[in-house]
Amino acid sequence: MAAQNLQSVPDQPAAPGAAAPAADQGQAQLEAEGQAYFDRVISEDSRIEPRDWMPAAYRKTLLRQISQHAHSEIIGMQPEANWISRAPSLKRKAILMAKVQDEAGHGLYLYSAAETLGQSRDQMMDDLIAGKARYSSIFNYPALTWADMGAIGWLVDGAAICNQVPLCRASYGPYGRAMVRICKEESFHQRQGFEILLELSNGTPAQKQMAQDAVNRWYAPALMMFGPPDDDSPNSKQSTAWNIKRFSNDELRSRFVGMMVEQVRVLGLTLPDSEVRFNEDTRKWEHGPLDWNEFKEVLAGRGPCNSQRLERRRQAHDDGAWVREAAAAYAHKQSMKTKEFAA
Ligand SMILES: [Fe+2]
Ligand SMILES: [Fe+2]
Repeated sequence: MAAQNLQSVPDQPAAPGAAAPAADQGQAQLEAEGQAYFDRVISEDSRIEPRDWMPAAYRKTLLRQISQHAHSEIIGMQPEANWISRAPSLKRKAILMAKVQDEAGHGLYLYSAAETLGQSRDQMMDDLIAGKARYSSIFNYPALTWADMGAIGWLVDGAAICNQVPLCRASYGPYGRAMVRICKEESFHQRQGFEILLELSNGTPAQKQMAQDAVNRWYAPALMMFGPPDDDSPNSKQSTAWNIKRFSNDELRSRFVGMMVEQVRVLGLTLPDSEVRFNEDTRKWEHGPLDWNEFKEVLAGRGPCNSQRLERRRQAHDDGAWVREAAAAYAHKQSMKTKEFAA
């Protein structure tokens, strides 16, 4: 379906004066046409593109979600980047480095998608380093051993895939398209995490114990990545109505637990949750209680590594200032040359 370009809809209120009522009417009509078009696209499960009219609340919701997602990819590089220099072999080092670079790429696709909604990347980055923007709570936990690289890949990237595959069909075009590419790379990330754990699990008793310990520490935070329980997730209903969200938090969490139950057997490890079971009546996987107070604390900035993650991000931003200045100077020089040529 062709996208309808309604970018010409003015955002400004009508100027005061004699012409105001007519301008108001024109504005109201354009808004009504835009809303009708938007509603039709959503009901047909088609896509909204950046130049299309969209409700202000839809734009705001997407901007928040996509920028938080971008921040999570960027901050999420840190726990694993810490292990690049300590990876146990050159091969492991190369694989981990490629994975961390992929996460940087995910952040960049997502910042680009968010920019199409009207906010600059600089602003998003300023909000992140000022501590005003949120990112996934999982990245505020420490990566204590090499086995954590396995557990992060298997559980954290695994949960991310579960969450993100349905987002490939999100109603906002740039977000859905970014997710298609990201999900392909996340699958590789999960496999490499699984493989690290498998090798440790088949190693010495101490290595197997290290793998189990990492799974024990990352299991609950990974389950909390799907967000609060459905009855405590006030924005989910609207996101579902807008075809941004396709499945509820609890539904996705349950599916993820089912996947992990199968895979943990192959690993020869166990999930640290004696209450995992398949409910024959609801046909869903169930798990033990999660500590939602801890989730809220970490999200509010009081997790084990929140301040360390932000401080490192600030430092990296400051260290990169010369690159941004050089790129801007080069772009300016090029545009001057183009102008000279045109004159
Ligand atoms: Fe990623
Ligand atoms: Fe990943």
